[in-house]
Amino acid sequence: MRVILCDCAGEATARVVDRIARTVSETPEPVLGLATGGTMEPVYAGLIEAHRAGLSFSAATSFNLDEYVGLPPEHPQSYHSYMARHFFDHVDLPEARRFLPRGDVDPGQSAAAFEVALQRHGPVDLQLLGLGHNGHIGFNEPGSSLGSLTREKTLTRRTREANARFFGEGEMPPRSAVTMGIGSIMRARAIVVLALGQGKAAAVAAAVEGPVTAFCPGSALQFHPDTTVYLDPAAASDLRLTEHYREAEAISSARAPD
Ligand code: F6R
Repeated sequence: MRVILCDCAGEATARVVDRIARTVSETPEPVLGLATGGTMEPVYAGLIEAHRAGLSFSAATSFNLDEYVGLPPEHPQSYHSYMARHFFDHVDLPEARRFLPRGDVDPGQSAAAFEVALQRHGPVDLQLLGLGHNGHIGFNEPGSSLGSLTREKTLTRRTREANARFFGEGEMPPRSAVTMGIGSIMRARAIVVLALGQGKAAAVAAAVEGPVTAFCPGSALQFHPDTTVYLDPAAASDLRLTEHYREAEAISSARAPD
């Protein structure tokens, strides 16, 4: 894993935006793996700005990690709606090449259809990931099989409580989601993880420096050959090897950009 310690959340976000923009402009038919959540909102704002400055997504295909079971695409808290609001409605990525698991059909069928599309259009060139407080990636909660493919997963109470902020007062997120599996995520050619804030510090330390374990799904990324983790100082605050990451990055960045 390449660990990039940024001076602030704004720098970490801008570097992730730049990395995605480079993949889009340098790859003839780029396939992007996309995430949702609070951390990603400024990433999409940055990509929209890049689009207004000339970056085209017209040759791109996108795969979103997950969708809540039971929510139709038009539900305001569905990830279909999130993506429309924060990204798709503002860029030229063709509608026919935006893939998200469906939340309003049988979850088994939704997952199977998503895997078929991934096989057909993949592999993903660059997968964007956030990290849950409990180390989840996508909605692969602790205990998820490290080799899993897209399927329905029950959400932990902690995840549902964390995401309740996006729902109306007194409303809770659905109990389960269809999510790309850890095995599906690991097939991406390259992965970028963006984690910001003190609330992510323990999960970051477990994913980057802990043992590889289903208890922290993000730790599976230690097996991936090309994963870069972008952190602000708060999210990096539980790491033990920070001096080493700084030294390693000084050498790596002189040789190859992230
Ligand atoms: C959602 C997703 C999740 C989030 C994670 C962090 O598509 O993949 O793994 O990335 O829950 O969410 P925020 O950024 O809201 O803390």
